[in-house]
Amino acid sequence: MTIAAARTDDLRIGPLSKTFSLPTGSVHALDSIRLDIPGGRFISIVGASGCGKSTLLRIIAGLETGYDGHVTLGDKPITGPGLDRGVVFQEHRLLPWLTVEANIAFGLKNLPPDEIARRVAEHLELVGLAGFAKAYPHQLSGGMAQRVAIARALVNQPQVLLLDEPFGALDAMTKIQMQQEVLRIWEVEKTTMILVTHDIDEAIFLGDEVVVMSSRPGTVKMVLPVELSRPRDRSSIDFIALRKRIHREFFTEAELPFAYEI
Ligand SMILES: Nc1ncnc2c1ncn2[C@@H]1O[C@H](COP(=O)(O)OP(=O)(O)OP(=O)(O)O)[C@@H](O)[C@H]1O
Ligand SMILES: [Mg+2]
Repeated sequence: MTIAAARTDDLRIGPLSKTFSLPTGSVHALDSIRLDIPGGRFISIVGASGCGKSTLLRIIAGLETGYDGHVTLGDKPITGPGLDRGVVFQEHRLLPWLTVEANIAFGLKNLPPDEIARRVAEHLELVGLAGFAKAYPHQLSGGMAQRVAIARALVNQPQVLLLDEPFGALDAMTKIQMQQEVLRIWEVEKTTMILVTHDIDEAIFLGDEVVVMSSRPGTVKMVLPVELSRPRDRSSIDFIALRKRIHREFFTEAELPFAYEI
């Protein structure tokens, strides 16, 4: 067996636990989460609402502190937000008074202007919006705005891109286009992607592995490798078998949302 050499973008999580203290009591959100994510992988995370998916992503992003355990990227412990991690949320969070190009450039202030312009143009091209540099967020569709949010997150060339239900607010057709788009970007950029989603098909379509979390406190219930070549056929027997495997973690046989014949 060959063991891959450690990379500076390997992410090691845990064991990690998080409890929120509230005036009314405490919420045990995450319990002993352990995940080793080799650099460059595409990891999907699914789990019931409230199981701690966003909390886990926020901890990796450095936005949430006060937890038990460790998260390291390469050999560096994560202690706060950093340019080595980009985040895309369900809502695009673009600044409405800035153009698309200014939104993407927003975090690039300490670079020479020509380098900023070069990187912004490159990332507009990457997300297929080369003609929209001067547009304002209100002039974009939901899918286009999410593309800008992805470009803004990638423009600092992070080692890890954290995606928290980035297509949750999009219609079904746009969502499928965006999934293909993210896959293309991942293949070009080789950035580690960690995608939280409620959509099990999306998780299987994109992930090298699907992490299934249990309900609160969130634990890692199962890590399912997706050994299907890309591009993946959502109607193939192997794809459907994986979907059924994951559905079984959430539903009883009587509740299964599809009448599986396999
Ligand atoms: N800032 C906070 N203060 C107190 N409790 C919080 C805070 N953030 C999250 N929680 C609690 O932690 C638990 C996990 O929340 P989290 O948002 O991580 O879940 P989630 O899996 O992302 O849910 P969803 O799928 O609905 O987005 C929930 O019970 C939530 O109420
Ligand atoms: Mg969430």
